[in-house]
Amino acid sequence: MNSIISYPDRGPWGDAKWRGNMSGHVMRDLFLQLKPQTFVDCMVGSGTSVQVANEMGILGVGLDLHQGFNAVNDSILNAVGYQSDLVFSHPPYGSMIRYAGHVWSGATEAQMAADLSQCSSDAEFHEKMQAVLLNQRDATKPGMFYGTLIGDYRQNGRYVSYQAEMIARMPSDELAAVIIKAQHNCTSDSRSYANLKLPRIVHEMRFCGKRSRSQC
Ligand SMILES: C[S@@+](CC[C@H](N)C(=O)[O-])C[C@H]1O[C@@H](n2cnc3c(N)ncnc32)[C@H](O)[C@@H]1O
Repeated sequence: MNSIISYPDRGPWGDAKWRGNMSGHVMRDLFLQLKPQTFVDCMVGSGTSVQVANEMGILGVGLDLHQGFNAVNDSILNAVGYQSDLVFSHPPYGSMIRYAGHVWSGATEAQMAADLSQCSSDAEFHEKMQAVLLNQRDATKPGMFYGTLIGDYRQNGRYVSYQAEMIARMPSDELAAVIIKAQHNCTSDSRSYANLKLPRIVHEMRFCGKRSRSQC
């Protein structure tokens, strides 16, 4: 695998109608590279990553707010019961797509409040994602991997780099890889941006941390 990836086809996994879903090939290639035996996705959405994992004989666990699991406050390690080889998240890209009460219905007040796509500010999102990343790290076996796939966002002329904020907040000696992924089939593809002077965002970033061998 190289540090630039592109999968125009999302494959048969997960639900193509789930807004903000990802291509299962992203996970397939990551699994082939890292060869985990155990895997957790703490924002599993329509289940893409876990379906790929199960197909490859990897023990996969999916958690999500729509099941009542809040990755900001609830311990992933406690929910799963053991440390895993790879602990992944694919969070909402800020408020670009709202999940609780929009993509999925029946949200309780607590779920609405916990939804990362409905934070009151970017600062709140960055802080909560730092907590998620440390939660993922805590659920990772020492010497193994945790990581995230996330895109950047420009709204009303303001550019917010979620991945840069997250990398800046993780233990710097654990950053193991940064991968640029071409984005395909976005709702914004069909819009015209005649007055846009700056480049349109057509990439996402995936980064991995390798948990140090000490338990702390
Ligand atoms: C980008 S989607 C994941 C899509 C998934 N990779 C797929 O292919 O279907 C982001 C997910 O994060 C979930 N989410 C939002 N806030 C959360 C939180 N605090 N804890 C856990 N999951 C959360 C949403 O419910 C949504 O399913």
